Amino acid sequence: MRVLVTGGAGFIGSHVVDTLIKAGHQVSIVDSLWELGGGSMDNVHPQARFYRMDIRDAALDQVFEREQPEVVCHLAAQHSVKISTDMPSYDAQVNIVGLINLLECCTRAATLKIVFSSSGATYGTVEQMPITEDTCQRPESPYGITKLASEQYLRFWKGMHGLDFASLRYGNVYGPRQDPTGEAGVIAIFAHSFLMNEPVRIDWDGEQQKDYVYVEDVARSNLLALTGGGGEAFCIASGLGASVNALYRRLAELTGNEVEVIRAPKRPGDIYLTHFDCRKAREELGWEAEVDLDEGLRLTVDYFRAKLGL
Ligand SMILES: NC(=O)c1ccc[n+]([C@@H]2O[C@H](COP(=O)([O-])OP(=O)(O)OC[C@H]3O[C@@H](n4cnc5c(N)ncnc54)[C@H](O)[C@@H]3O)[C@@H](O)[C@H]2O)c1
Repeated sequence: MRVLVTGGAGFIGSHVVDTLIKAGHQVSIVDSLWELGGGSMDNVHPQARFYRMDIRDAALDQVFEREQPEVVCHLAAQHSVKISTDMPSYDAQVNIVGLINLLECCTRAATLKIVFSSSGATYGTVEQMPITEDTCQRPESPYGITKLASEQYLRFWKGMHGLDFASLRYGNVYGPRQDPTGEAGVIAIFAHSFLMNEPVRIDWDGEQQKDYVYVEDVARSNLLALTGGGGEAFCIASGLGASVNALYRRLAELTGNEVEVIRAPKRPGDIYLTHFDCRKAREELGWEAEVDLDEGLRLTVDYFRAKLGL
C-alpha cells in the first residue's frame, strides 16, 4: 500500500515508518521538524520520501497529488499537555486546523483511510479502572480536548465523505528515540539521567501509576489498523499500571546506578492510577502488547547507552 505518515520524523512516527517499510509498504513522510517536538532528520528512514512541511500548509495538496496515499497514518501534532495549556490557540491550530487541512487533502486525493494517533488524555480523571473504549471522555487539558475533537471530526468525515478511520488511544508510550529533554516521557528522562548520573525529579509520592506501552507495539497497532478496525476507536496500552517508584528501582538495577531524587508536589491534572483494558484491540484488531515493561526498559536503556557512547 501507499502510506503517508505525518509526524514520521518523530518518536512514534519514525517507528511506524520502520514497521510499515518492513511489512513492504511504500511510505512517504510529512513532518515540519517543529522545534519543540521530538522530530529529527536522524529518525527519517532512508527508503521513505520525506517532505519537510507543516500539516497546515496549502501545499500539502501537492504532496497528496504526487504520492496518492491510500492510507494516512496521522501522528503529527502539538503533543505536549503543558504547551497546550500555555498556548491553547497554537494547540488548536495544529491539532484541529491541521487535521482539517489533512482531511480535505484526503478527500481530494480519494485516500481510503486515516489512522489517527489519539490519546489516553481524552479521558481525564475517570471514575472506574480499567479504562475502556466506552469510558466517558472528559479531557482535562486543551491537548486532550483537541484529540477528542479530532476523533469527532473523523467520525463526521467518514459519514460525510466516506473516508474510513481508526482512532488509536495510546497509553504512555516509551522506547528508543523518545526525547529525554521533554517535559513528559518519564522513562526516557529517567534512563538518560541514570546513565548521565544526574538527579531525577519525582512528583507526588511516586506511587502514582501509569500504563506504559512500548513504541514498537504501538507501531504495530498502526500497521494492523491500515486494514482493520474501520470506524472504531481502540485503547492501545499494556493493560498494567507501573509506579514511578517502580520505574526508578528497575532503572537503578539496569544501569547499576542510584541517582539523587528531587521531590516535587503533584502536578496539575496528574492522575493517581491509570491502566487500560485492551480487549477490543485484541479481538477486533488482532493487537496486543508483546514487549513487557522489563524488556522494554532494557531495550530503552541499551538505546540511550549506545547513543551516549557508553
Ligand atoms: N508519546 C506518547 O506517550 C503519546 C501518547 C498518546 C498519543 N501520542 C500522540 O502520538 C503522536 C506522536 O507523538 P510523539 O510522542 O512521537 O511526538 P513527537 O514530537 O516525537 O512527534 C510528533 C512529530 O510531529 C511533527 N510536527 C509537529 N507539528 C507539526 C506540524 N504542524 N506539521 C507537521 N509536522 C509537525 C514534529 O516535528 C514531530 O516529528 C502525536 O500525535 C501524539 O499526540 C503520543
